[in-house]
Amino acid sequence: MFSAVAEKKRIAVVPGDGIGKEVIAAALEVMKASGAPITFTHFDWSADRYLKDGTTIPADGFAKLERDFDAVFVGALGDPRVPSNIHAKEILLGMRFRMDLYANVRPVKLLDAALCPLKSVEPSDVDFTVIRENTEGLYCDVGGNFKQGTADEIAVQEDVNTRKGVERVMRYAFDYARKHGRKKVLMTDKSNVMTFAHGLWQRVFKLVAPEYPEIQASHMYVDTLCMQMVREPRQFEVIVTNNMFGDIITDLAAALQGGLGMAASGNIHPGKTSMFEPVHGSAPPLAGKDAANPIGAISTAAMMIAHLGLDSFAGKIEAAVLEAVRQKKITADVGGTLGTRRSAEWIAERAAGA
Ligand code: NAD
Ligand code: IPM
Ligand code: MN
Repeated sequence: MFSAVAEKKRIAVVPGDGIGKEVIAAALEVMKASGAPITFTHFDWSADRYLKDGTTIPADGFAKLERDFDAVFVGALGDPRVPSNIHAKEILLGMRFRMDLYANVRPVKLLDAALCPLKSVEPSDVDFTVIRENTEGLYCDVGGNFKQGTADEIAVQEDVNTRKGVERVMRYAFDYARKHGRKKVLMTDKSNVMTFAHGLWQRVFKLVAPEYPEIQASHMYVDTLCMQMVREPRQFEVIVTNNMFGDIITDLAAALQGGLGMAASGNIHPGKTSMFEPVHGSAPPLAGKDAANPIGAISTAAMMIAHLGLDSFAGKIEAAVLEAVRQKKITADVGGTLGTRRSAEWIAERAAGA
């Protein structure tokens, strides 16, 4: 039976570097204002911590996140003082790989026609979701250099694609389409050239798609997809692809929404502690200027609390964001005049009252 007082959801917060810290503070304020039953525990894993004591993520970090938290909320990682980006790799890619967060879900939704760089496009024309494989591909760090530094140097980076990994992310995409009332799933690859790796994607897609007869399955090469995303974005509903292509096409897709500052994402393994982060990075030149757009992080927060079953609070936040965009209570990158903090305050007030 239900207890009288609902358990609060426990969220681990990793603000990270640069504007990550500012947009996370903004999103926390909005989540609190929404009244969602959640608690926050902060972790200082970042370039600052790495430069102080060499820690990227403590040895028990991933186990702790999985054991003690319902979700993880991350800002961004990347700092010019750490040229190797080793901390970002170990923390961010570490969470994706070690926590096996195999589906990177990146919704692409235009909130206002004025934000889209395309001509004659309405918000309903840009409304699709990219499901990016998140634990394999070119991100596996398998490869090496031979005769490094010589004129004969050879560099090899392997593209790792497993039958199980490809199949589970495709099923995730079809299940996502079902759950969200979508009728189309498109798989994109470069199987005309990457015959081995993406040949596997082709074969698995043909096996999985017929299990979802009500959903129209189609395929496009990734170069054509980039062209079509700009020419006719309304044709897309759910796109499933590999790790690297998913990374690249979601920056392009972010531009359709008004820029990187608008884009949200979740790194998900159904049934396990999942991680949520805006698509953008730490934007070092913007950091500390109260200029970063907080909407990507705030929309990510809404996605996270919806994932935790708190849909009504997520709905309040989404409505407040939409109103902020309509009333231009937004930052300069999307045509407003407010700073990060003021924009977040406005959205928080609205989310509290909505
Ligand atoms: P970036 O996303 O930080 O910035 C790219 C461009 O978008 C810049 O012009 C920046 O000013 C703008 N931008 C990004 N977020 C914005 C926001 N919220 N509001 C307004 N403008 C915004 O990408 P980059 O410059 O290629 O990378 C900077 C660092 O961040 C690198 O170290 C990179 O590795 C890292 N990075 C981290 C993540 C992550 O943690 N998820 C993602 C991408 C890049
Ligand atoms: C993203 C980022 C990361 C990626 C980087 C920072 C490793 O670009 O989340 O899109 O390539 O996945
Ligand atoms: Mn990226």
